[in-house]
Amino acid sequence: MSSIAPPMISFRDATKVFGGGRSGEVRAVDGVTLDVAAGEVFGVIGYSGAGKSTLVRLINALEPLTSGQVVVDGQDIGALGEGALREVRSHIGMIFQQFNLLSSRTVAGNVAYPLEVAGWPRARRAARVAELLEFVGLSDKAKQYPSKLSGGQKQRVGIARALATNPKLLLADESTSALDPDTTRDVLNLLRRVNTELGVTIVVITHEMDVVKYICDRVAVMEHGKVVEHGDVYALFARPQHPATRRFVGSSLRDRPSAAALERLRNRHPGRIVTIGIREDGASSNDLTRALREHPVDGTIIYGGITEIAERPYGSLTLALEGADDAVAAFLADLATTTSVLDLGTAASPLADPDAVPERGEDRDGGGVRGNLDVGAPGLAQHGGPDAAPSFNLFAPFRRWKS
Ligand SMILES: Nc1ncnc2c1ncn2[C@@H]1O[C@H](COP(=O)(O)OP(=O)(O)OP(=O)(O)O)[C@@H](O)[C@H]1O
Ligand SMILES: [Mg+2]
Repeated sequence: MSSIAPPMISFRDATKVFGGGRSGEVRAVDGVTLDVAAGEVFGVIGYSGAGKSTLVRLINALEPLTSGQVVVDGQDIGALGEGALREVRSHIGMIFQQFNLLSSRTVAGNVAYPLEVAGWPRARRAARVAELLEFVGLSDKAKQYPSKLSGGQKQRVGIARALATNPKLLLADESTSALDPDTTRDVLNLLRRVNTELGVTIVVITHEMDVVKYICDRVAVMEHGKVVEHGDVYALFARPQHPATRRFVGSSLRDRPSAAALERLRNRHPGRIVTIGIREDGASSNDLTRALREHPVDGTIIYGGITEIAERPYGSLTLALEGADDAVAAFLADLATTTSVLDLGTAASPLADPDAVPERGEDRDGGGVRGNLDVGAPGLAQHGGPDAAPSFNLFAPFRRWKS
């Protein structure tokens, strides 16, 4: 779709620098070049301080650019005067983590607000508000005040308000971060309808890969103001290149044991442990079953998970293997022709998963993950050592097994 239609948003070397005084400057957005196609749901993911909100604020010129270019729906945002900018902004809706509803107005009054600002006559306003509340499923709450609503209901009011003037583009900055998982799903489903039924292009800002997985067509990963990786959501999950992307992917699926979980598994299974990728274009569980049948190796599944991303299988299985060293090596070499295999070594000679994600509740700070990665470092040096079975990077490009 993007190859024919011009992009809805086009960043060209877009840069936003804050400060510059003695306290130094912050390159909140640093040379971003990126296209968001008309009609897609595009995710921007990154840890706190990565520059996501600033990137979004460049789109509606709430922040002026320091250098570079942002083109929205064919208009060079940086070149527009206030009047023209107001016109462009009227085609951009925005929803926020904290909903930003007016507490002194009813639900209907909140949704009507942008229509009043845009000068709609009263009768048309009322009809439009009714239509919007129906779309978001809140017709019965029209006369309520926001304080009487749940978080999910508040966000639905926020969405109705953002859609009031028929925007082509909706910007959602952490719009589900204050909501529980079920409510998050409701709001994401509603955003999907906004995209598919109303044809609105949506940019979703989030720090949760689950949100990306659930709703986005494509995604960009931001770190320190830069887009470090972007592309189709399945491709990004299946073959994440950048360490930040790997951490997001790992923390979303939790299909691979953390360092602590791996230690516990080794206590019960002192033999060789491997993690095998399950992908659309690599091994399915069938390949695994076949390989186990054809080699004199016993394999027990001790960890893992398989899910669907963009309706395609994705995940990994961790196995404890028993068998003679050469049989295990042949089994792994066989599997490696159809998928990726990560050797985690044995209790006596352990190897670490370089992309292990801490367990829930373990500490994580802004840019990275503490703890487990360090534990793994010495083990990494053992990869490919004399006693080791052949080892393969789980995220090495997959070998196609059908030519
Ligand atoms: N108005 C401002 N003045 C100075 N620095 C700012 C300003 N706004 C943002 N920054 C800095 O720019 C960087 C990026 O901030 P931004 O809010 O875009 O990050 P974010 O990815 O949205 O983070 P979060 O997930 O916490 O919302 C941060 O270092 C932040 O401190
Ligand atoms: Mg932010």
